[in-house]
Amino acid sequence: MALRQSKKKRPRREDKQDKESWPLEEGVFDRNSLIALDRFRGKGIVRTLDYCIAEGKEANVYRATKEDGSFVAVKMYRLRSPSFVHMGQYIEGDRRFSKIKGNSQGLIFAWTQKEYRNLELLHDAGVRVPDPIAFKANILAMEFLGVDGLPYSRLVEVGSEDPNRDYDLIRADVKKMREAGLVHGDLSEFNILMTDKGPYIIDCGQAVLLTHPRALEFYNRDLRTLWKYFSKYPDFDRPEPVAEESEGKNKEPENK
Ligand SMILES: Nc1ncnc2c1ncn2[C@@H]1O[C@H](COP(=O)(O)OP(=O)(O)O)[C@@H](O)[C@H]1O
Ligand SMILES: [Mg+2]
Repeated sequence: MALRQSKKKRPRREDKQDKESWPLEEGVFDRNSLIALDRFRGKGIVRTLDYCIAEGKEANVYRATKEDGSFVAVKMYRLRSPSFVHMGQYIEGDRRFSKIKGNSQGLIFAWTQKEYRNLELLHDAGVRVPDPIAFKANILAMEFLGVDGLPYSRLVEVGSEDPNRDYDLIRADVKKMREAGLVHGDLSEFNILMTDKGPYIIDCGQAVLLTHPRALEFYNRDLRTLWKYFSKYPDFDRPEPVAEESEGKNKEPENK
């Protein structure tokens, strides 16, 4: 007897469509994002979006599965980000992004590209950051930092078992970053993931070139925030970094 599936048992068209379409979420999954995700899907970078790792003011980060079954992290910036005015100060004057379209969407696209370029520069310089994979519109795909499919925790959550060692590792990366021509600008225990290979610096969208008028101010702030966090550990013994006052003067404020 020929195998004939009854009409009733066949999946309804809507069911199939539901399964194949991306979940919808206010402010993130608009038309642009869907087109960008489709592009990633076409390239085998994203087969499925698995779950949301973090929901932020500016972006959501998802774990996704690639065509080959491995994982990637997908950061999707909100097109209607409440902080896009604040974002402007980190991108204005950056020679890499001189032709930004004057609307918020143009700024978010440029920002996404900026995070990708920053990660590329830093990864090439040997800084422990996620390896960037691709960007399109408001979406960035990068190396998933995790184990057994679960993302690594942030420093703020798990703390440090060896504060002197972890501080030194991060300081060495900040130094490498600066040698590569960038200042992170939002370095804190919230933007460091504690991995098997040591602390990784994430969230590099706001990182500015050394030529940025406020680069030094951001650099000093990053170092101070980092030191302040580690100084709460009783066995932490690294000296407080001396703030650098102007370009050229006291070039490396490290006094350890
Ligand atoms: N490459 C990654 N791999 C695994 N988890 C990540 C990755 N990038 C970000 N995350 C997770 O998503 C959270 C938000 O990412 P982040 O880049 O800091 O965005 P936000 O701008 O919202 O702070 C992080 O705190 C971290 O838990
Ligand atoms: Mg962050």
